[in-house]
Amino acid sequence: MQNRFLLAIIFLLIALSGALNIRSGDIDFFKLYNDPEAHINIKERRTTSDRMAAHGYPAEHHHIVTEDGYIVGVFRIPYSHKLQNQNEYRPIVLIQHGLTSCSDAWILNGPDDGLPYLLADAGFDVWLGNGRGNTYSRNHTTLSPKHPYFWRFSWHEIGYYDIAAMIDYALKTNGQDQKSIHYVGHSQGTTVFFTLMSSRPEYNDKIKTAHMFAPIAIMTHLENEFVRSVGPYLGNRNIYSLLFSSQEFIPYNDFLLALLFNFCEPDQMLRPSCDRVMDRLYAGGRVNITAMPEGLATHPAGCSTNQMIHYLQEQQSGHFRQFDHGIARNLELYGSEIPPDYPVEKITSKVYLWYGFNDNLAAVEDVLALADRLPNKEMRPMEDLLWNHGDFALNMEVRKYLNEPVVNIMKKFEEDNN
Ligand SMILES: *[C@@H]1O[C@H](CO)[C@@H](O)[C@H](O)[C@H]1NC(C)=O
Ligand SMILES: *[C@@H]1O[C@H](CO)[C@@H](O)[C@H](O)[C@H]1NC(C)=O
Repeated sequence: MQNRFLLAIIFLLIALSGALNIRSGDIDFFKLYNDPEAHINIKERRTTSDRMAAHGYPAEHHHIVTEDGYIVGVFRIPYSHKLQNQNEYRPIVLIQHGLTSCSDAWILNGPDDGLPYLLADAGFDVWLGNGRGNTYSRNHTTLSPKHPYFWRFSWHEIGYYDIAAMIDYALKTNGQDQKSIHYVGHSQGTTVFFTLMSSRPEYNDKIKTAHMFAPIAIMTHLENEFVRSVGPYLGNRNIYSLLFSSQEFIPYNDFLLALLFNFCEPDQMLRPSCDRVMDRLYAGGRVNITAMPEGLATHPAGCSTNQMIHYLQEQQSGHFRQFDHGIARNLELYGSEIPPDYPVEKITSKVYLWYGFNDNLAAVEDVLALADRLPNKEMRPMEDLLWNHGDFALNMEVRKYLNEPVVNIMKKFEEDNN
């Protein structure tokens, strides 16, 4: 669920909250999400570091300033209290969430299964990123998040500025003279990696291994019904996309609330997608339901509507390319009427593509088309044919099939290179 991408994930959450609501009967999600204070006031809320500390891990909260003035909140488990390895060499890992998600997504499964904990206990210095605009990154050196200009960014800027700043900051702060890091991203967390590494290829030297869970760049074969139905409206330059653009995307916005809460109404055109989401989630106990309440308390974590529009543009164009601002602005910015493609051929770092055959957001054909253009990749199809987008986060067996293999690849890299 959470992590990752597009409206579908939000819908999935809302659908779930609806389901839990019926059972618990006492949480009014509409009221909760309709109250901006409940959402933005993160002071009283537990943060990712509070949650990690509650499990006994040393946890830090950093504020990193990007080249263009955004301040992103990043969390860190610097070492493992179990290993007491604070004075030993600890290779850096940066982990990046998906669309409308945040660093909390990675720790929902708890210390026995969650990737950050497993990495810390394997001796790594673990960093959990948050892209600009989400709950932990509504901050800027001069702009207020209440100002519309704050929201003029898509995932391009998250990759180009935020991830670059996080990598450099982690390398500096770790203090062990490391020159490169391991990277893990889910969904949008992969898109921002591809964006950065193709637009600023010098960053490839700062990557040891990169793990793309449900990689999203080319979106031609995406099968998600919701995305397919709104794509033609919001994925092209028109009055709909203009009205929708450059805003904070959080469900207390009335327009979106109406959209969200109509999603699963019996006579809505989107009802089939809703049913499918529920079927998948509840089928055969695949998903860790115990982790859901925490997931709902932390998601959706907000983003700019331009992030969604940018994805819908990719879905419409079939290209992995920069944001389409319309001809006049494109000419000014890019020197061409059509935005330039990201030169993914320049991504020379070692990229592991972890993908599922049942993922209706990261379709196999699109992953393969991207892989064709990547010079240094390794394919890691998920064995379980039912594995879908959300399984990368909350499948009951995520430790065995995904997290442990990833940790082992990183450990092997360290053994071979030290
Ligand atoms: C914004 O950034 C400043 C400067 O790093 C930091 O002190 C402050 O706590 C941040 N505020 C929020 C809400 O993250
Ligand atoms: C499911 O989530 C709960 C709550 O975080 C956790 O205690 C449990 O270990 C998780 N189980 C699996 C198999 O991920």
